[in-house]
Parts: sequence; C-alpha cells; structure tokens
Amino acid sequence: MKQTKTVGTAARKTRIRITDTTLRDAHQSLWATRLRTDDILAIAEAVDQAGYYSLECWGGATFDVCMRFLRENPWERLRKIKAVCKNTPLQMLLRGQNLLGYKHYPDDVVERFVALACENGMDIFRVFDALNDPRNLEKAISSVKKYGGHAQGTISYTTSPVHTVESFVQLAKQMESMGIDSLCIKDMAGIMTPAEASTLVGALVKSIKVPVQVHSHMTSGMAAAMYLSAVKAGAGAVDTAISTMSSFSSQPPTETMAAIFEAEGYDTNLDHAKLAEINAYFRGLKKDRAPRTTATEPVDAGVLEHKIPGGMISNLRSQLDQQGALDRLQEVMDELPKTRADMGYPPLVTPTSQIVGIQSVLNVLQGRYKMVTQETKNYVKGLYGRAPAPINPKVAKKILGGEKPITCRPADLLKPGLAEAANQLEPKLVQKEEDILSYCLFPEVALGYFKWRAQPEGQRDPIPADLERQPAPAGTPAPAPAPAADESTERFAEIGQLVAELASRLGMTAGSVPAVPLPKKSAPAPEAAPAPAAEKPDEVSGPTVNAPFNGTFFRSDGPGKPELAQEGGAVKAGDPVCVIEAMKMFNPIKADKPLTVVKFLVKHGDNVAKGQPLAVVKY
Ligand code: CO
Repeated sequence: MKQTKTVGTAARKTRIRITDTTLRDAHQSLWATRLRTDDILAIAEAVDQAGYYSLECWGGATFDVCMRFLRENPWERLRKIKAVCKNTPLQMLLRGQNLLGYKHYPDDVVERFVALACENGMDIFRVFDALNDPRNLEKAISSVKKYGGHAQGTISYTTSPVHTVESFVQLAKQMESMGIDSLCIKDMAGIMTPAEASTLVGALVKSIKVPVQVHSHMTSGMAAAMYLSAVKAGAGAVDTAISTMSSFSSQPPTETMAAIFEAEGYDTNLDHAKLAEINAYFRGLKKDRAPRTTATEPVDAGVLEHKIPGGMISNLRSQLDQQGALDRLQEVMDELPKTRADMGYPPLVTPTSQIVGIQSVLNVLQGRYKMVTQETKNYVKGLYGRAPAPINPKVAKKILGGEKPITCRPADLLKPGLAEAANQLEPKLVQKEEDILSYCLFPEVALGYFKWRAQPEGQRDPIPADLERQPAPAGTPAPAPAPAADESTERFAEIGQLVAELASRLGMTAGSVPAVPLPKKSAPAPEAAPAPAAEKPDEVSGPTVNAPFNGTFFRSDGPGKPELAQEGGAVKAGDPVCVIEAMKMFNPIKADKPLTVVKFLVKHGDNVAKGQPLAVVKY
C-alpha cells in the first residue's frame, strides 16, 4: 500500500485514496449532525458507486444525536447503510477508551461495542485519544483487530513546545507496534500548514510501514494546500466532503481536490458524474437540514494566530453570554493558552477542549483556579490519561490538595460495566443487546429514546429535531444558534457525570467479552431523586449558600446518584452541598466551613441566577 512514485506517461498513475466524510464529519461540522438515516439512504447507492476509498458515516456525534434529536437507533442506521453500500468500506471515528462518549468506559464495554460495530458492518475504525496517550488507544485497537476490523491509529495534531515531529513519530511507532493497519493525522483545528505537513508526513513515511492518511478542516482555509503537500510527501489518502457539504469548518471539497490531484498526475478513482449527482442531492437537501441561523464566515483567519479551534470560540462565546459576561471574551481568549499550558498542553479536541475552555472561563470570571470543575480535577488527577507535558505543579497542588494523581492506565480502575448496565434497564425497554451498549454510552439520552420508542406508533411525542425547525410563534426571540459541531465543540453534557465512579482496581479479564444477556428481572430505571418542594426563603432565616453563577441547581451529581446533603444534615468544610450545572459542567458548590443545611430553597433541576440563595444553613 505504500506510495511509489511513477515516472512517464505509460506508467500506472499513483492512486490517491479519498475518504468521503459527507455522511459524518461534514454534516456534524455544518448541519449540527442533523442528517437523518433516510436522507443518507436516498443517496447511498450513488455514494457507494462514486469510487471513494471509504465512507465515514458513523461515530463522532452521530450516535448521540441519532437518539437525542432524531429518535433513531444508530445501530439500525449502520445496518441500513451497510445493506446499500456493498462496494465501499464503511468507516467510523472512535474516541479510544471514550468510544463515542466523553469519559472512559470499562474494557468490557469497549470490546463489546467494537464487536457489535464489526458485526453490524463497520470496516474501518479511526481510533484517537484527545491526549495522544497510547494507553487509552490499546483496548480499542486490539478489539478492532480481534473482531476483524481495520484499525487506523490516529495522531491528534496540535502545536506546542512538547509536540514535535519526533514526538509524533514516536507515537506512530507505538501504535504500529499495537498492530494498526494505517495511520491518520487528525488536524481537527485545521491549523497544519503545508510546510508542516510535508515535514511530518515525510518523517512518518520514513519511520513506519503502514499507509498515512490526512484529515483536516477548512476552518483557516489552509487544508486544500496542506493536503497537496501531504500527498507529495507520501500520504496516500485524504478526507474530503462533497462540495455543498465542504469548506467552512468542514473538509475540503471532493471535486476540487480531485481536480487538483488529477492535474498533478494522480489517479483518484472518482467518477465525476456521480460526484455531480451526489452534490445536486445535497444542494437540494440544504434548505431542510442546514441550521437556519448559521452565519459562518467562510474562513476564520483568527485561527491562524491563536490556534484555537473555530467552533470552540463560538462555544465560549455562548457560555459567556449565558453568564451575562460576553464583554470578557478577549480575556478568556488570552487566558486559554495559559490554562492549556498549566494543563500540560493537551490537544484541544473533545473532551479536553471543553475541560480547558470551561476552566479558562471560570479562571476569568471567578479568579484563577478559585473554582475548579470536577472534570479539571479529574484531568489533573490523571483520570483522562497522561498529559503531553507535566501539569504545572503549583496548579496541581492547588487543585488536588493532598490527593495523589494516578499513574496507571485510567481504565484499569474501572469495574466491568455491561452486566450492571443491563441490570439497570427495564426489560420492556430493551430490544437487542446493542441497546445496552447505547445505554452504557449515553444513559439518559438512550433511556429517553427507549421510552419514546416504547410508545405506540402514531402516539409518540414529536421528534426533537422536528420541533427545532418549526417556525417560532410571532413575538418569540430568535432561536439560539445551532450548536457548533466540530468534534472539539460537540455536546458534552455527560462529561460531568461519571468519571467519579472510578473505584477499585480490577485485573483485566482475559478472553472475549461475551454477549450481554438482556435484563430479566424488573429494575427501576435510575432517575434523579425528587427534591422536596421549595419553600419561600423568608419562612426560614439565617445565612445562605448562594449560586456563584447562573445555571441549573441539582441536589446530586448525576442521575441516580444520592443527594449530596440532606436538610438537617451536617456538611464538612470542603464537601459539596449541591451542584450547579453551568456551561455543561457539573460544578460542586462546597461548604466553606462546617455547616448544617436548614432548608433548601430551590428545587432539583431549577434554573438559578447568580447570587440567588440556594439553601439556608447554620454554622
Ligand atoms: Co474532523
């Protein structure tokens, strides 16, 4: 598969393999992942005949969005695409030990997820880790190999003092020793210059035997030139999207890249008439699927300077807006590289982009590390993996106090998860084993979908994605912009919930993870405990614990978790009284000194404003 340059017109041209991202990354980047299975099936046959090397059509945010907004079963989508696309391998994006979620899953969940994905038709697994920690890639890669898939190892590309060509080559070699079939350079922010591509790809093709592919985004406008440079340096494959679904924060256009490569004497294997047919289809679909409020600049030149992924800035902007602090955006932009340096220069991609982004916002609004999210603490503790560079020791001490960071692979601390997940689900909601995996990844979202699915057809609640597109009644404010949806900015509501469940170290089980039996005994679905009705603040007097910012009030730190404090109960200094979810993060509100909660003043799940009293307490 290695590139060999040919000379002379009679010689066979070098083939450049084109991966089509239209059915995954492109609509995730431009259309908030709202492509539906029927939209895909209507064009799938033409796509399958266009001559692509592979079709990226699953993974990333598609799985979550299918269930949450489209009320579709993502596994069913995979089977339906596979039934039509018989010529072209299907490809997915997998976040290593995080699978498609925002936290580490136990090994049994990772292995069984990969096994079922293979069984249902997935061929190529692009496996990445936000920190480039090889320990977070091992289990996913070995599972892909075990169940007969093509394992594509990934370098999450970023720039920093510790991210050198040598460090990336070293990582590639480590992944090669794990048995990867190919390697992808994933430039999620679209910041790799043509010169950097030439150097990095050149070094990689000299050092590893597997073929190299390049993935980028047109955010800064450089990706098309970068691809050509990468190919000339020996990359054999690139990712593109059909022109209507390309550019902006999506991939470079397929038709343009094909024209460039063909003019350079390469063979792309693409059928131009089919490409035109496919593009006409998506052009027609645009009015129904593109977010109505998107007003994206074609090129975000700022990315070239600050190297912060474009989608991440729009995310920060909306978070600041929610806090009534939009005027502090520039301060946050200045703080972000400092927080990232403190954190050991993680590449900014899900979930590290959210962790660093939100901590930067808090550092500006509350003072540096005065308030720390549970995710930041977990990150500093090593629960997401090893940071590329050591974490600033002063910051680590401030955040962890006396606690020691872990040194093992984070997933080694996780108990097997499948049996417990199966046990938590009501049997009547579960149709197939795949439902248990969906539940492991997105417990609340999957439950919501399962309950919707269990309603009699014809009496089901409206589909959330349909509600989004209904015209607003006169007088209502314009809808919020659709969420920016690059991998670095997609939804991450689950991020705050479950990393804390890391508990007892367990040995890895050898052999295959068997199929999970469907739940038999009736067990109630885990739901947040109802809070007692709120009473007027003036009925009880005394000092109060107040909301430090706008957000949603919770008595527990996750669905099914016990309440953190009871009325009449004592809380030690430093222990949480309640949680405020803001900016998609669960922020524990801690007692500054020992106290007793007299009365909670707000209900679990209520919105609260900055400064609003949450509970009357006694010191
Ligand atoms: Co991407």
